[in-house]
Amino acid sequence: MDVKKLLVKMSVREKVCQLTQVHFGMYDDKKFYDTTGPESILYVKAEDGKNFGSILGEAPTEKILEIQEKHMQDNPHKIPLLFCTNVVHGFKTIYPIPLGLAGAFDMELVRECAAMGAKEATVCGRHLNYAPMADTARDARWGRVMESAGEGAYLSALVTKANVEGFQGDLGKYKMAACVKHFAAYGGAEAGRDYNTVDMSEYTLRNYYLPAYKAAVDAGVTMVMSAFNTLNGVPVTGNKWILKDVLRDEWGFDGVLITDFRAVKEMITHGFAENGKEACFLAADAGVDIEMMSSAFAEYYEELIAEGRLTIEQLDTSVERVLRLKDALGLLENPTKDENPEEAKAILLCDEHRALARKAAEESAVLLKNDGVLPFSKTLKRVAVIGPHANTGKLRGQWRCSGQEEDVVTVFDGVKNALPESEVVWCEGVASAAFDYTDESGIAQAKALAKTCDAVVLCLGEDEDEAGEGKSRMDITLPQVQYKLLDEVCSVNKNAAVLLFTGRPLAIKRLHETAPAIVNMWWPGTEGGNAAASILFGDKNPSGKLTMTFPAHVGQCPIYYNHYRTGRPSPDERKGKTFVSAYFDGGNAPLYPFGYGLSYSKVEYSEVVLDKESMRGGEKITATVRVKNAGRYATNETVQLYIADTFASIVRPVKELKGFEKVALAVGEEKTVSFEITEETLAFYGADGVKKAEKGEFKVYIGTDSSCKEGKAFRLV
Ligand code: BGC
Repeated sequence: MDVKKLLVKMSVREKVCQLTQVHFGMYDDKKFYDTTGPESILYVKAEDGKNFGSILGEAPTEKILEIQEKHMQDNPHKIPLLFCTNVVHGFKTIYPIPLGLAGAFDMELVRECAAMGAKEATVCGRHLNYAPMADTARDARWGRVMESAGEGAYLSALVTKANVEGFQGDLGKYKMAACVKHFAAYGGAEAGRDYNTVDMSEYTLRNYYLPAYKAAVDAGVTMVMSAFNTLNGVPVTGNKWILKDVLRDEWGFDGVLITDFRAVKEMITHGFAENGKEACFLAADAGVDIEMMSSAFAEYYEELIAEGRLTIEQLDTSVERVLRLKDALGLLENPTKDENPEEAKAILLCDEHRALARKAAEESAVLLKNDGVLPFSKTLKRVAVIGPHANTGKLRGQWRCSGQEEDVVTVFDGVKNALPESEVVWCEGVASAAFDYTDESGIAQAKALAKTCDAVVLCLGEDEDEAGEGKSRMDITLPQVQYKLLDEVCSVNKNAAVLLFTGRPLAIKRLHETAPAIVNMWWPGTEGGNAAASILFGDKNPSGKLTMTFPAHVGQCPIYYNHYRTGRPSPDERKGKTFVSAYFDGGNAPLYPFGYGLSYSKVEYSEVVLDKESMRGGEKITATVRVKNAGRYATNETVQLYIADTFASIVRPVKELKGFEKVALAVGEEKTVSFEITEETLAFYGADGVKKAEKGEFKVYIGTDSSCKEGKAFRLV
């Protein structure tokens, strides 16, 4: 459709309303365009209702149809509403949280999961997805790490791209528009406190925080969401440098730029805008198209045009972007797009989707420790499933969209499904995983039960709602009461394995020292219980890897593998040295490094071989390693390539992930894995903001995780 023709017919007020996103709550049962209750804070007027452009929030499918139908009758230009929501890890069928799924190191799986979420969401009337989240997450105290692909830019960029492709495809049937967020550097919040200040060098920003958003833009993402935070003193919502110079001019993004929730008016609270009118000016002038859930645009945009501070051209540019997006989704021809309540019944939670969610949960699980108890035998007579997460459907994590507790396979049910011939018994022991839960009264019963069983599955972790937005924690250990449960149970039954449920890395040194085996399930989603059982009983050999470092102590946060060098590096332990860059009360070594994850097998790595000792720009070097499955189980090994730039015009990290390959290895099988290293592999943004490789020495490491040592050197000449 020719959106320009549409644009000329619209009044200024109608245009401004297209740029105002309101909440589903405005369309309550009794009254359309309700501006009372929570919506009254928006200061939007009821008579604008028919002109608004988009709606945020979870609404029943039938209600969406009703709202759209009414809107199409009322809107003078028949411009449909855009329904927006957060399909972060599934819509109805919930798959593992992004932090876990990224650790499967399988981009096709990420794409398939995203496509499944989009299919379920679109048949239920949703058009636009506030995902993927592409924030680099280096601080486990920050609750939103669960939505990210972890601490490394290389992996995050690949995952973000795969997500955009999975959600959007060609924007045709069962596809939804994607919105990459939170641009930019929201993950850099100081001290892991949500919404907090972000202050970082452009060098760090460009090399470690921007690549994943850029990958989304390069993949054709239709929308970008600006972040809540300040970036070097300027709230992103009004930050012309990042929104205009970088996003629009440098990267060429011409899609829709939306703010985060109420972020325009929050510029007043930040102490950046004097009032609502200035906030409107600053956001619009920085290139924001849609204001989410605050009403500075609705209140002041026209006034600012009349005063000549904003122009009608700015307004038109933004409205045209919004209309183009609606057109690209086919909404201008068909306002309900794929919405179909009947079809939804057959699609939501269908067998195919459950199977994919199960596969994703199995592939995301990370074996953190195993002193030989796992996998459990399938011939066990009596198995106990114990702990706060043992028999609950609360295995979804935050941003669970329409995922219901009752649709989730619990661990108790999963174990029963896996062992139809055995007796499987359950007991909570500790009734809640909440950080402040201290009641020990159920532990004696759990201990007594454990004593009567051949094996124990202990389901520990944080509460499902303790990670996510607004869920920063200063203490990321397990509650003492869970340790007490572990100690008591293990004192009577050593054939015990812990399933860990969490949305973030936890500081679980004590768990590592005490539990015979630990499988990190993250928040696995709808098929969590079945996936856990596959791993416990050896139907699936775990192969997931950590996408974030697990600290040995919360005081190490933020801790990440690709940190810069210092002039006084420290070995993992201080070994009596005083003036080194290390904590004297514990050292620098994490509990588990980035990329870490065991399997039931043992993979041996040969030495790395480089085909040359030096290369010129434009040439390539091939790094090769042989990997052998020396264990007793077939396995999938993620072979990881890391490179270190020995010296440069600006200090470089100790090493960076630059490639990986997930290889299937039968028992005894040996394979050769090769990586090509080009100038592009070695390039980085220097202090001048230019991306290039610098001549000199590099070291190549190939191994099973980021702690791999003994790099092979070559030179770029
Ligand atoms: C979050 C966004 C989310 C938006 C709409 C905000 O609070 O930061 O990630 O997309 O709400 O739900």
